[in-house]
Amino acid sequence: MRWIDSLASEAGRRLPPPVLAYFQQGAGAGRSAAEAEEAWNGFRLLPHVLRDVSAVSTRTSVLGTPVDTPVLVAPSTLQRQAHAEGEAAMLRGASGAGSLVCVSSNAGTPFASLAGGAPWWVQAYVLRDRGLTAEMLGRARAAGARAVVLTADTPVVGRKYDSGPSVWDSVPPEHLLVNVDWGGEDESRLEKAADLTPADIDWLRTATGLPVVVKGVLRADDARACVAAGASAVWVSNHGGRQLDGALATARALGPVAEALADTAAELYVDGGVRDGHHVLTALALGATAVFVGRPPLWALAVDGAEGVRRLLTELTPELAHAMALAGAPDLASVTRDLVAG
Ligand code: FNR
Repeated sequence: MRWIDSLASEAGRRLPPPVLAYFQQGAGAGRSAAEAEEAWNGFRLLPHVLRDVSAVSTRTSVLGTPVDTPVLVAPSTLQRQAHAEGEAAMLRGASGAGSLVCVSSNAGTPFASLAGGAPWWVQAYVLRDRGLTAEMLGRARAAGARAVVLTADTPVVGRKYDSGPSVWDSVPPEHLLVNVDWGGEDESRLEKAADLTPADIDWLRTATGLPVVVKGVLRADDARACVAAGASAVWVSNHGGRQLDGALATARALGPVAEALADTAAELYVDGGVRDGHHVLTALALGATAVFVGRPPLWALAVDGAEGVRRLLTELTPELAHAMALAGAPDLASVTRDLVAG
């Protein structure tokens, strides 16, 4: 049995029920969350034969940062509810696997204490208070963030229905938003901006001096608009099924977005239900530069801290390398669209 397959239940034995429910849940009736993984399983591959695969490399780079694996860590809130060291342990674990982490703007760990772990990007929920947002991102940049990831699928937060007590009733304040200097009194300062437009991409780029990635794109026309507005990369995501319930599975959205960006220099990432080497190979063949995993590194963090994250990522990467060998693709440049049937 693969470790990743037992991780969720192992984490479930360690986590308080409200935290477990928060990590697992999707929005609404959970349609998109439930089908994410199955959507990858629906693809069939057309392997090459007689290709020299005596050495297989999974190395690549994302926005100029070299990584040993195209399996990267997606942003998630409440990592300190999974493990006392939260984001710091996540970065140490990812570093051990040659990966990269996108750190949530909701993080419970000061950006300044993330030095020495994996390379990282900062995810931005843009607040109505743009000044507060810019200040938080300035702190991330000063601490070493190499890109800003604008989460664009959250103008309002997707409704989740808890059957027991909600995690929000018990989150200690030091586990949330420690990099946003909002004063601790007027919570309306933390409301998300619902008026984002493509112009905010350029605002973010100018305010931070960092490349901007737009996360939460499912449509080809939106992907093109993001790149035209200055995005360096587009991240196909439905937020792990936690925003618009019924939003298309990312496995199905990826291909048309890749086609729409084929004549641009933009990079393309995808997340949602990516759980094994077959899924990663399929995503890369459909046009992704890299994939991100969200829940599995949270489970791994809960089960074994930094070592768990390292183990998870280092087990997924050889699975990808094995699938690449069987598909006749010795490196990521040879993982091309024709490997996927249809
Ligand atoms: C998330 N996600 C998320 N995304 C984001 O942009 N900012 C955030 O703070 C969070 N927080 C968050 C918390 C939890 C508990 C989960 C599970 C997810 C979404 C995340 O980055 C990613 O898009 C999905 O998790 C990917 O799907 P999988 O790999 O979990 O299936």
